[in-house]
Amino acid sequence: MAFKIRKAVLPVAGLGTRFLPATKSTPKEMLPVVDKPLIQYAVEEAVAAGVEEIIFVTSSSKHSIENHFDHNFELESKLAQKGKKEMLELVHNIKPDSVSCVYVRQPAPLGLGHAVLCAKQLVGNEPFAVLLADDLIYTSSDQPNCLQQMIKVFDKTQGNVLAVEEVPLSDVSKYGIVKLSNAQLAKGEYQEMRGIIEKPQPKDAPSRFASIGRYILLPDVMDYLTTLAPGVSGEVQLVDGIAKSINEHQNVYGYYFDGKKYDCGSKLGYLKATVGFGLRHPETSADFKQFLNDLVNHAS
Ligand code: G1P
Repeated sequence: MAFKIRKAVLPVAGLGTRFLPATKSTPKEMLPVVDKPLIQYAVEEAVAAGVEEIIFVTSSSKHSIENHFDHNFELESKLAQKGKKEMLELVHNIKPDSVSCVYVRQPAPLGLGHAVLCAKQLVGNEPFAVLLADDLIYTSSDQPNCLQQMIKVFDKTQGNVLAVEEVPLSDVSKYGIVKLSNAQLAKGEYQEMRGIIEKPQPKDAPSRFASIGRYILLPDVMDYLTTLAPGVSGEVQLVDGIAKSINEHQNVYGYYFDGKKYDCGSKLGYLKATVGFGLRHPETSADFKQFLNDLVNHAS
């Protein structure tokens, strides 16, 4: 039976320590890139890919995420009174009403695998997506977004699908690094995976292909996560659950997505995203480009 990806898990319980003090009282997922918080980009990607239920795995300090995806009657009625139709639509259509948001708490920061496991009951017995909002992925408007591309692979394989990209050897210790069945993988292609290891040292890396924050997972990964001992950094790692899936049934694929990923979990990546999206945004594009040109010419 062919499954549809109806549910997406968005782990948002992290402390965001790399962005302190900005993230002292604001969740890192609420940091804006131009005019939208990071989390909204991830939700829009999931919704465009056909997801009907968003499961946020949150912690005590993340109320603003719930508020963002809920209606704000006071704001909406004021905008309506003032006849500000465009703004009203903007705040009203943060997500379609048909898409439901549910929230489950991760009681302690015990790792990404543990966060995903917190959604086990809500996911139930069906394949699901996981999106990490830190990884902001740009795809052009005439191209399927990253999750849509992955769903095409899932439709063919009915297996776990991980989005991957090639990274410099010096960066392999920041990612889950995959072992593929063949050393070559071009953008837009997928391949069966033979293994995955969380944040290896360069000498131990099975390849330079890194898993990024987009996953389509079969429900049995929850069972593997349940039995895991803490891994790298003393945390329950999602990668270790996926490694178990490979050992058990091998139905795991690495897909080299076609798009530009910005690592908004780092200051530099976040700045790059702001510049990249600022240069593409219809309201800022022309003037911002001029500003950057002037800046470069002045500096040189
Ligand atoms: C997490 C995962 C890692 C993955 C990365 C993608 O790491 O544990 O396997 O490669 O996301 O962004 P984190 O960035 O939370 O340290």
